[in-house]
Amino acid sequence: MLNTILVGAQWGDEGKGKIIDFLTEQADIVVRAQGGANAGHTVIVGRTKYILHLIPSGILRRRTTCVIGNGVVIDPIGLLEEIDGLKKTGIDPAGRLHVSDAAHMVFPYHKALDAAREALKGEGKIGTTLRGIGPAYGDKVDRTGLRMGSILNAKRFAEQLQEAIRRNNALLKSLGAKPLPVKRSMESVLKATRCLKPYVANTVQMLHNATAAKKRILFEGAQGTFLDIDHGTYPYVTSSNTTAGGMCTGSGIAPNRIDRVIGVAKAYTTRVGEGPMPSEARAVGDLLHGMGREYGATTGRERRCGWFDAVTVRQAAMLNGITDLAVTNLDGLDTLESIKVCVGYRLGGKRIDHQPSDLGRLAKCRAIYETFPGWQKPTDRIRTWKTLPLNARRYAQALAKLTGTKLSYASVGPARSQTITL
Ligand code: IMP
Ligand code: MG
Repeated sequence: MLNTILVGAQWGDEGKGKIIDFLTEQADIVVRAQGGANAGHTVIVGRTKYILHLIPSGILRRRTTCVIGNGVVIDPIGLLEEIDGLKKTGIDPAGRLHVSDAAHMVFPYHKALDAAREALKGEGKIGTTLRGIGPAYGDKVDRTGLRMGSILNAKRFAEQLQEAIRRNNALLKSLGAKPLPVKRSMESVLKATRCLKPYVANTVQMLHNATAAKKRILFEGAQGTFLDIDHGTYPYVTSSNTTAGGMCTGSGIAPNRIDRVIGVAKAYTTRVGEGPMPSEARAVGDLLHGMGREYGATTGRERRCGWFDAVTVRQAAMLNGITDLAVTNLDGLDTLESIKVCVGYRLGGKRIDHQPSDLGRLAKCRAIYETFPGWQKPTDRIRTWKTLPLNARRYAQALAKLTGTKLSYASVGPARSQTITL
């Protein structure tokens, strides 16, 4: 297998960073193609815990090349902080990390606009990560954004940035928010972009050459299928295409170069921020939060929790063309006597087996559950499929069957070694 896409099959936080890290062993290049610093990919290597926001998780393996593709929105200040943070742990991304010259940038005013717009929405807020993602993609679509390539001409970039800050300050004022200090904002951005120059490259050409040379490329999807701007629970979504197609447009790789699509799903469901979630259940939240689990890696927010929703993951399989399923966090359910799985929705007296695209209808959907016996044994020390408790194997296989996928990986903890291959 040469080129693999890995996507989240739920609402993000499925454990993609961890599975990516595990798969990186079989990859030459790891690519991020959408999203920005709203992502938080947690990877644990030995005793060190890394939380990566913009840099592909592949950076933790020393011979892997990493690419931040054209579809990503990059906060230059945040990226530099992440690079410096890695350097402190002995990992130097120089020469191994390449950033697309066509990727748009996120500036302090995008973050301020994100906060101002959320505040204005009041009750109707999306619950964004406040990383400026929506406003930055908005500028991209509006054709007023600035791309990474523009930092190479420092003098002209400073002028463009100043003009953009002035323009957005007027916008902030009109929204009743405080404008940003022009000089200080300029300085913080310019300090970062000066250091980032050596990382900027034509990554489309680079990836094309790599495929021609039969290099193995791994696409690290961020967020999850139901946060996709087109296929998610709009408007409670992020501003990029988180589904498999987004990996192609966001990197310049042609669809027929993709050999495999792995979907990652938790053995239950979580979601951060607002929006419908039919299998949400207090009991699951109490259990997981009580174990100190399910707090956001980017914002620290408590994640909403529920039972596994086979309706949504089946739809994710359809949208992404998922060939392989990775079920993560199986160990989170270790103590339960019985486990529920949402196998369909009831809507207005009828049973449906897909997610309605109309949000009002989705909000009215009630989960139909099937109950599975638990295994009530700790699984975190188990390393092989055969030694996993029988009920855990049955449960994981049932999830694959219910979603029309093939189970390929099961994960029983955050460490590299806690990933079981089938
Ligand atoms: P934004 O991407 O910051 O605009 O946030 C939009 C919605 O997507 C909010 O509900 C966020 O909580 C959610 N979101 C964005 N990125 C992630 C992620 O990496 N994991 C989980 N949820 C996310
Ligand atoms: Mg996350």
